[in-house]
Amino acid sequence: MPSPLLTHRPSRLRRNDATRALLRNVRLHPEQLIAPLFIHASLSEPKAITSMPGHQQLPLTAVVEEAQSLYALGIRAVILFGIPSYKDAHGNAALEDDGIVQETIRLIKAELPDMLLISDLCFCEYTDHGHCGELCDDQQLDHDKTLPQLQAQALSHARAGVDWIAPSGMIDGMVGAIRSALDIEGYSHIPILSYAVKYSSAFYGPFRDAAEGSPQFGDRRSYQMDPANSEEWLREAALDVEQGADMLMVKPALSYLDIIQKMKEAFPEYPLCAYQVSGEFSLIKFGAQQGLVNEQEAMLETLTSIHRAGADMIISYFAKDYAEYWKKACV
Ligand code: PBG
Repeated sequence: MPSPLLTHRPSRLRRNDATRALLRNVRLHPEQLIAPLFIHASLSEPKAITSMPGHQQLPLTAVVEEAQSLYALGIRAVILFGIPSYKDAHGNAALEDDGIVQETIRLIKAELPDMLLISDLCFCEYTDHGHCGELCDDQQLDHDKTLPQLQAQALSHARAGVDWIAPSGMIDGMVGAIRSALDIEGYSHIPILSYAVKYSSAFYGPFRDAAEGSPQFGDRRSYQMDPANSEEWLREAALDVEQGADMLMVKPALSYLDIIQKMKEAFPEYPLCAYQVSGEFSLIKFGAQQGLVNEQEAMLETLTSIHRAGADMIISYFAKDYAEYWKKACV
């Protein structure tokens, strides 16, 4: 017999669906998700990305249809990753006004003007060495030389009609440089969503296949952050805020929920984005295929925990799956 003195029974409030639903206070709406799209300049048909089940590299001719199908499901924003037809040491293909991302922006804007278009601003998909900018003689990233390149790429996206610019290269001074270039050229209305706190992570593996942007030598540890440093996030985020970032991002998400929470507490007035990266997605997909986890439950649990930690919006390869789930759950 349970003790009659046991008056506090939290489990009373978890007994059935209706009670749980009424008391639930973390809800993620599809409008808070951003769907990544990969657009390949040399393809004429969509090509499955084997490392990321359900995702494809799209030719320009397929991009509008994909954006429309996301929009119809309630996704209001996409982030664009381009794979160019050629690569060189400087990533020049990223700067062309008829480049792959620029053309994608024009096409989607013409057909679906209400879809928010975010461009991931980096050079790793465009350089033949696969690093995120210009290199010095010693093969290290040259932050200072990369800044004018980032400015040129940002302006080209702005001319094409991008809504938000999201620099992802962890280049010192990138936010200030991009902000000043945009302001001087008449694009002061375009906000910057900075990948402010981006760790050097094992979980980017599948993405590097999808975007064909693996470093050809070395790694990114000299510019992306050390996962074992628990202090540096504040310095990186504060610098980006000082340089004019409008929104901040933490990436990856699940291994960095503590950082997401601290970021929201430190900068409550700045919208916070978290990026549930390719490895976080594909491990669940492949795990579910092996019968190890229930895919939908794992998707809901991870996205919910990222939102609960403090992310206002989430970039996720589950965006479409989640929107489909939401649509079904709402009827
Ligand atoms: C480009 C970039 C990367 C990702 C987003 N932008 C790759 C990297 O930094 O190595 C990773 C996204 C993912 O894994 O889903 N710098």
